[in-house]
Parts: sequence; C-alpha cells; structure tokens
Amino acid sequence: PPTSRVTLSVNGDRHTALVDNRTSLLDLLREHLGLPGTKKGCDAGACGACTVLIDGRRVNACLTLAVRLDGAKVTTIEGLADGDRLHPLQQAFIDQDAFQCGYCTPGQIMSGVGCIKEGHTGSAAEIREWMSGNICRCGCYTKIVLAVEQAAG
Ligand code: FES
Repeated sequence: PPTSRVTLSVNGDRHTALVDNRTSLLDLLREHLGLPGTKKGCDAGACGACTVLIDGRRVNACLTLAVRLDGAKVTTIEGLADGDRLHPLQQAFIDQDAFQCGYCTPGQIMSGVGCIKEGHTGSAAEIREWMSGNICRCGCYTKIVLAVEQAAG
C-alpha cells in the first residue's frame, strides 16, 4: 500500500515516521511512537477516548489521518504534566475522584483542557454540552464536570 513520510511535533518532540497512508493519528501515536496514553475505544469517532489536541484544538485521533499532519503540533496526555507537576486538570481529576476504571480518562482530560481553553466553562450544563463527545461507561459525569470546574478556576 502507498506510504508517506510524516514529520510532526508530539508533546514538543519532533518525530518522523513512514506510515501506510491509511494510518490514523491514534495508531501512529500508539503503535509507531510508543505513546499508549491515548486510548482506543470505538475507533470510529463515537466515544472520545482518543481525544488529543492538534495545534491546540480537540480532535478524535482515530478519525484523523496521520499523513495529513505533516508539520502539526500534537499534544497528548503524556505531554500535559510539567515534569513531576501534574497539569491542574489532572490534579483536579484526582481531587474530585473523577474516574472509576480510568479508560476514558486521558480523553476526558484532553477534552477538558480544550473545553477550558475554548472558554466553555460558564456552567455545569455548558461543560457537559461541550464535553458530550466523551463517553464514560462508569458514569462519572458529575465528578468530571466538578474536576473541569475546579481546573477552570
Ligand atoms: Fe476515537 Fe472512540 S476511539 S472516538
């Protein structure tokens, strides 16, 4: 199958990979770059487990073709903490006990970071609306909203 070389920045590190043109960003991260923090739930754009930021904007990595990202800046859950210091939203998830199994958590946190950056944190209802693409089968939505409110200040 046709392949392409893609060079992109992930969490501030430059990476070059030769990928099958059908490779998703999600598979590039997990299988080529050794970054398994971004989770694969549905692989079809329905669950939000694979949420990452591209140039600061939220996307579903499973729906994004890696070859289209030449030159892009990607941020994943692995890139949020500052050394040993957790990102305020990571800390808020711990403080608010905002997870049970944890599988959706990286996607929830990346989506929450985007939600805060976009300024959609005026009320609990607004946060729920703007994070409605992130499914939690354990049903931790109330606490997830509390965590986003905490980090948003
Ligand atoms: Fe991408 Fe579900 S794995 S939206």
